[in-house]
Amino acid sequence: MLTLLLIVSALTIVTIQGQSITSFETGTGFSSCVGYCYKYVHINASMVITGKSSKTNHTDYPEIHEAYPFESSQFNQLVELVGSIEKWKTVNTPIGCPDCYNQGAEWIYIDTDGQPIHGVQFEANSTIVGYETLVENLRALRHTFIH
Ligand SMILES: *[C@@H]1O[C@H](CO)[C@@H](O)[C@H](O)[C@H]1NC(C)=O
Ligand SMILES: *[C@@H]1O[C@H](CO)[C@@H](O)[C@H](O)[C@H]1NC(C)=O
Ligand SMILES: *[C@@H]1O[C@H](CO)[C@@H](O)[C@H](O)[C@H]1NC(C)=O
Repeated sequence: MLTLLLIVSALTIVTIQGQSITSFETGTGFSSCVGYCYKYVHINASMVITGKSSKTNHTDYPEIHEAYPFESSQFNQLVELVGSIEKWKTVNTPIGCPDCYNQGAEWIYIDTDGQPIHGVQFEANSTIVGYETLVENLRALRHTFIH
């Protein structure tokens, strides 16, 4: 009984409020385009929810969402690629001039259990210095899940 209590209190100590990543959202958007110009995925430890939308033509292109199961081990790999959430929050946004010359914007939003979501916007197909692998992995996940 005493052992169990000690384990429980040790677990409580390592879970620091605001430091645990609960979800990611990543997507691309093109303002001067026709059709599904905004494509994004919301990822948590059990599911991927995709979204496709058009900012200009909702009648012909209604918003579409699809849900897929997602492995928690794969989610944890993304969390490891972020590393320190405090460091992530120091990344300036936007980087460059996203979608200024019709070349599209790309974004990564990271939500934690306590603190406000920190999102970084950058030029589509570019990267975030120090987070290149995270950018590539999230891009690959979008390509896998958005059809
Ligand atoms: C992931 O998101 C879905 C949909 O919002 C939710 O039902 C599920 O409980 C979430 N899973 C985790 C591990 O947070
Ligand atoms: C919506 O998209 C359809 C198909 O591309 C097009 O024919 C129509 O003119 C568009 N409507 C508007 C308001 O842009
Ligand atoms: C940039 O990304 C968009 C959307 O993912 C893609 O359609 C386009 O081909 C890419 N452009 C280049 C030069 O890679």
